[in-house]
Amino acid sequence: MDQITNVSEYEAIAKKNLPKMLYDYYASGAEDQWTLKENLLAFSRILFRPQILIDVSTIDLSTTILGFKVSMPIMIAPTGMQKMAHPEGECATARAASAAGTIMTLPTMANSSIEEVASTGPGIRLFQLYVLKDRNLVTQLVRRAERAGYKAIVLTADTPRLGRREADIKNRFTMSPSLTFKNFENLDLGKIDETNDSGLASYVAGLIDRSLSWKDVKWLQTITTLPILIKGVITAEDTRLCIQAGAAGIIVSNHGARQLDYVPATIMALEEVVKAAEGQIPVFLDSGVRRGTDVFKALALGASGVFIGRPVVFSLAAAGEAGVRKVLQMLRDELELTMALSGCCSLKEIRRDHIVAEWDAP
Ligand code: FNR
Repeated sequence: MDQITNVSEYEAIAKKNLPKMLYDYYASGAEDQWTLKENLLAFSRILFRPQILIDVSTIDLSTTILGFKVSMPIMIAPTGMQKMAHPEGECATARAASAAGTIMTLPTMANSSIEEVASTGPGIRLFQLYVLKDRNLVTQLVRRAERAGYKAIVLTADTPRLGRREADIKNRFTMSPSLTFKNFENLDLGKIDETNDSGLASYVAGLIDRSLSWKDVKWLQTITTLPILIKGVITAEDTRLCIQAGAAGIIVSNHGARQLDYVPATIMALEEVVKAAEGQIPVFLDSGVRRGTDVFKALALGASGVFIGRPVVFSLAAAGEAGVRKVLQMLRDELELTMALSGCCSLKEIRRDHIVAEWDAP
């Protein structure tokens, strides 16, 4: 672990440690994987305009997210089935997030239950919700998240159907029979059709309600008092609809390039969303964040914080909880250094003119 100097190095270790089918499931994007590459490349089209001779002897990375004080604006995105990466799965991730003083998002499709993750100890946690066809099940999930002390519902809105991840189809991806979706153990996994493309993907996709629409956001508000973040927004039009629907925040996300291919990298879409939000609700970003410099760029473009997905599963596969802790620590250190070298002592001091994007007018 001492040899690891950046987040991306964990991917190579995960590739060695994991069976091909599992590595491919975590790593893949949809179809041509154009957006997958673009999510990383787009960050490199933004350069810095640092300010020199600023006293940066003390740097404060802390911020407030949904009213909760966190140590840094780097949080954990929901990624399904983490026990395929490491036997301690989501619980290891939750402990690492809590140790780093930041937020973890537990997915609906987890191998550890809402309650198990809550019982790992104190921590600020959000619950990612896939709205399933069975609304009683959805209501139960939301109530359980409330009771277990989760602070918000992250409504994933970009997945009426699963994107076509061709590696999963080739590998006939399925979850190990020793694992379950712990949030609903009564579901009959025996129904999975292993002969069909990716059996598991088809099964999960079959549970999700394709008819989900804006009126369901209103419905969700009638069953919970928790704030609702809408995940998967990449346009100004949808941003305005999120605000009208009463969302407490937006996550600019393309699902780590696993859904619609050829959507822009989120860092390219961020400014449009931030402008449309007009400061009424916080805007967060995920997809492609691998460096502290990426985090700084997102903040300069108006994000209130970022979430990371694959770095968590890859570091889990490489070194369990210690790996996730190290990823969070490396990103934190890199963000702190970027701030120091740009002349910013606090997140509030990060401004749009600390960066110049390729698309800015000369
Ligand atoms: C995801 N993501 C995801 N999102 C969600 O809302 N519910 C889910 O169950 C999952 N599952 C999932 C599994 C895996 C293996 C990946 C890689 C991603 C999307 C995730 O929350 C996030 O949007 C992206 O992972 C962010 O992109 P990066 O950081 O992976 O590039």
